[in-house]
Order: sequence, then structure tokens, then C-alpha cells
Amino acid sequence: MTLALTTAGESHGPALVAILTGLPAGLVLDREAIDADLRRRQEGYGRSPRQQIETDQVDVFAGLRHGRTLGTPLALVVWNRDHKNWTWGMNPWPPEGEPEGKGTKPVTLPRPGHADLAGVLKYGLSDVRDALERASARHTAVHVAAGSVAKALLGTIGVSVEGRTVEEESLRARIDEARKERDTVGGLIEVRARGVPPGLGSYATKEDRLDARLAAAVMGIQAVKGVEIGEGFALAGKFGSEAHDEIRTDRRRDTNHAGGIEAGVSNGEEIVVRAAMKPLPSLMKPLASVDLKSGTAGEALVERSDVAAVEALAVVAEAAVAWELARAAHEKFGGDAVDDFVAAWRAYLERIGWR
Ligand SMILES: Cc1cc2nc3c(=O)[nH]c(=O)nc-3n(C[C@H](O)[C@H](O)[C@H](O)COP(=O)(O)O)c2cc1C
Repeated sequence: MTLALTTAGESHGPALVAILTGLPAGLVLDREAIDADLRRRQEGYGRSPRQQIETDQVDVFAGLRHGRTLGTPLALVVWNRDHKNWTWGMNPWPPEGEPEGKGTKPVTLPRPGHADLAGVLKYGLSDVRDALERASARHTAVHVAAGSVAKALLGTIGVSVEGRTVEEESLRARIDEARKERDTVGGLIEVRARGVPPGLGSYATKEDRLDARLAAAVMGIQAVKGVEIGEGFALAGKFGSEAHDEIRTDRRRDTNHAGGIEAGVSNGEEIVVRAAMKPLPSLMKPLASVDLKSGTAGEALVERSDVAAVEALAVVAEAAVAWELARAAHEKFGGDAVDDFVAAWRAYLERIGWR
């Protein structure tokens, strides 16, 4: 069975939900490890006060017994604690009583750079909130929980995945400056996966290519506008003799310009994925917009927002890469029980003589 992930949840709705199917039975999950990843996503320089309201923790509704997966759909829930302030505004049903709390007035001033304008046009909405609630990156929380499960599966075959920001000090200085100017910033992140065996992904079709799959997984995260594998864009300016990683007699490489993937297949070296995040679109100093109700010029919605979420993106991208690598590994090694998965991995390494 292929691993598959479906998520649901709005930013200020009751909860975020993920359903993971195809996981082998017998995988040991550690609640503390999942919650630690959720905490990492919430930390970071430049985040909004929302992070003090939300103390994300995972709840499991199905697919797990006494900390071991059952091989059945795994249902994860992360509650939105802030929902208590939005029970009228984000009520799934027509609310009773007088409007109270947040989200009671329709939003009609779309923010440039966000889902607001495209969303209302596409779905025929009159309240921008109906678009922005799902487009918001809040639901990356439950993707991080799913990524944590993926990391547990990868851990059984010695693979680790880690995301981090690039240029830490200069990023902080830019965030300080942006906060002062009531502006926002983006930045660069990188995810590295160690211990990935050669042979994940395939050159057979473009859908199977591991580089394409990782790029789609990371580009699928809000505000990511560029993804590269290995030296990516810089390779365009190099000679072939500088760009390619020569092969030693033990089939390993001394360099890793390719970032661990050749022809859409992992080559046994560290997988390196980098992503560029644009500046966040919710500015405290709003940009020009149009009032969709009156058609007159106005200033975009000012919604409580992060100044930057680059450190959070590193955690979210780590989860996305982990999920995609777990999917590729499970395609290759299979197994209804985690022991079958690990045994197939061992037999494969034995066949190719890889250590
Ligand atoms: C972890 C994370 C947190 C984010 N927080 C905010 C935020 O507080 N305010 C904001 O305007 N955008 C935020 N974004 C970005 C928007 O969700 C994103 O720009 C928007 O959905 C439009 O999608 P696009 O940028 O991919 O085109 C965040 C993105 C990530 C990954």
C-alpha cells in the first residue's frame, strides 16, 4: 500500500485533522517526539502572539494502540485553542445568538500576496475569510505531526531528516528591522536527509522522480517560491567537470553537488533540499487593495501575523521531505508489518553491498 496523507482544518476552526493511510503495523510512535516537533514549529524569531495561545499537542483518534500503529488509518488531531475566541465567527453551523468574538464581520479587503483575491474569485465567495482560513499556514501544524510519524518510519532504516534556516544572524537582523517598519520578511531554509539508501525514486516516469517529488512537496508549503536540490541554480553556471560528483571505487562520492539525487533516484549521498520563502503577505503597514463590496480603493486587511516564519518553515519543510522520503522508502521496501519493511531494506543493502 502506498502511504497517503489527507488533511483538513481551518486556521481558527475547532481543530486540524490528518489521516495517514498505508503505514505498516508495529511502528512505535513517541507522543513526546511528535509534540516536540509541534513545539519547534511554533518557536522561532518573528512569530506572532498566536503562538502563545496555541500550545500544540497531538491527539490520536484511530490507528494506534499502546503506542504502536495497527496498520489501519492513523487519525491525528491538533486542536486550535484560539477557536474559543471564534466560536461564533467560525461556527461550522449557522450560529445562534448575537455575533460575538472574532471573525464576525466579513473581510472585503484582500491582501496582495495571499489567497484572498484569487480565493473569492475562484470559489464565488463574498467574505475573504472563507478563503484565507484554509489558505493560512496554520494547518502546517498537522503536517508536522504527520512528518514526525514519517521520521519514525524512516528511523527504522537509519534515515534522519533535519531542517534548518540558512543565514541565522542576518535573518534576525532583517526581522528586527521589518518589525520596526511594520513590514515582513522571508528567507532561506535547507533540509538534509542522512542515511538514505541509493535507489529511492525512479527515472522511469517524471511522477516517480524523487527530485520532482521533493520539490513538489516543499513548493506545496505556503510562501515557498523556489526549491533547489543540491547546488540547484548555481549548477547552471558551472562546467560539467566542476558540477558532477566523481565516483570512487566504493561507489561513494567525495563531493555532493547533486544533493544526493541523480536521474530522479537517490544515490546514497546526503539529500539536500533548499527553499526560498517570500516575505509574508500580512503587513501591519497595509498595501493598496480594493474593497470588493464597494469597488473603491482601500488598504488591505490587517490580520494578526508573523513578521517572519522562516524557522517554522524549516520544520514544516523537514516534515514534507520526511513524508515524501517515507513514501518513497515504503514503495521500495513495502511491508504490512514494520519488521517486513526493515527486513526488505536489509536484504536490499545486502544485495547491493552497501554499508
Ligand atoms: C509556517 C508558516 C507561517 C506563516 N505565517 C504567516 C503569517 O503569519 N502571515 C501571513 O501573511 N502569511 C503567513 N504565511 C504565508 C502564507 O500562508 C502564504 O503566503 C499564503 O497562504 C499565500 O500562499 P503563497 O505565498 O504560497 O502564494 C506562513 C507560511 C508558513 C509556511
